[in-house]
Amino acid sequence: MAAIPSKQSDTVVPQATRVLFVDDDRLLRQAVPDLLSAYGYQVTEAASASEALDHLKTLPFDIMLSDVNMPEMDGIQLLSIASRVYPDMPVVMLTGYGDVEMAREALHQGASDFLVKPISSARELPIIVERNLERRRLERQRLIENKQAILMETIGALVATIDAKQPYTAKHSLRVNRLALALGDAIPLPPDERYVLELASQMHDIGKIAMPDHILDKPGSLNEEEWACMKSHPDRGVRIIGNISALTYVASIIRHHHERMDGQGYPDGLKGQAIPLLSRIIYIADAYEAMTSDRSYRKRLPSEEAARRLRESAGTQFDPELVPLFLQVLEQNPSLK
Ligand SMILES: [Fe+2]
Repeated sequence: MAAIPSKQSDTVVPQATRVLFVDDDRLLRQAVPDLLSAYGYQVTEAASASEALDHLKTLPFDIMLSDVNMPEMDGIQLLSIASRVYPDMPVVMLTGYGDVEMAREALHQGASDFLVKPISSARELPIIVERNLERRRLERQRLIENKQAILMETIGALVATIDAKQPYTAKHSLRVNRLALALGDAIPLPPDERYVLELASQMHDIGKIAMPDHILDKPGSLNEEEWACMKSHPDRGVRIIGNISALTYVASIIRHHHERMDGQGYPDGLKGQAIPLLSRIIYIADAYEAMTSDRSYRKRLPSEEAARRLRESAGTQFDPELVPLFLQVLEQNPSLK
């Protein structure tokens, strides 16, 4: 270890950056914290992996520097636990020169950087700490810049979860989404309403994530209790996404996607115009998609038969103005059928 410089004023350290330094070498446990403190970091030292884990449970850290070779639990095991508990905390591993195998394993476990021992220059250490903290700052920055894309990707992942849970209805959500948007565009909807329709139509069955497989996949008809459970999926969907403040409007559309015009639908028995327009759109797209797809208990209906059933139920089940418009959209876009 090189000589420890006195406090340097040229390095700007953000307020209270907390560093956890883990090494079983007593001399390093004095030298490294002294050095980093001189640069303004708040350093906590630990002599073992288990001591480090105790610290991690009680204090927030911005970065951890850890030795690899330690008795009992080694640095790689500590790394794998720490990166699971704090996925975005950078962890720098202190390694011996040329230990490629270990480096590979450490990267696999989520190490963000390496520092080769013996630490050759005192300036090296704060530079590595800053480099890794900067990387995390940039990642967080990107998170804010990309929030629109991230929201859509997160929704896509949630939707894929429903489709994966229901092999017979895989791609159902995406097809409903396409049909609903085509109908919405025929109205047409203002851009902000269209965006809500885009989100709600993809997530309309999100509540099914919380439902048991034996009900979702049941080949025959449902008994009373199972049917009651099935009917709870709009409300369950609201409970899943309703806490996301940006999605409360989307949640209310999802809640009503099984309401019938005659008030005989669920969950609230809303009637006619009391049912949000976007929910009425999704209900039609959903019903058409379900009728024209194979299910475990029946074959798909031809498009003409599904259209006939929609027409037959216009006014009682479905919005009587939207059904003809929807059928017209299908005629004009055969690829949607
Ligand atoms: Fe549904």
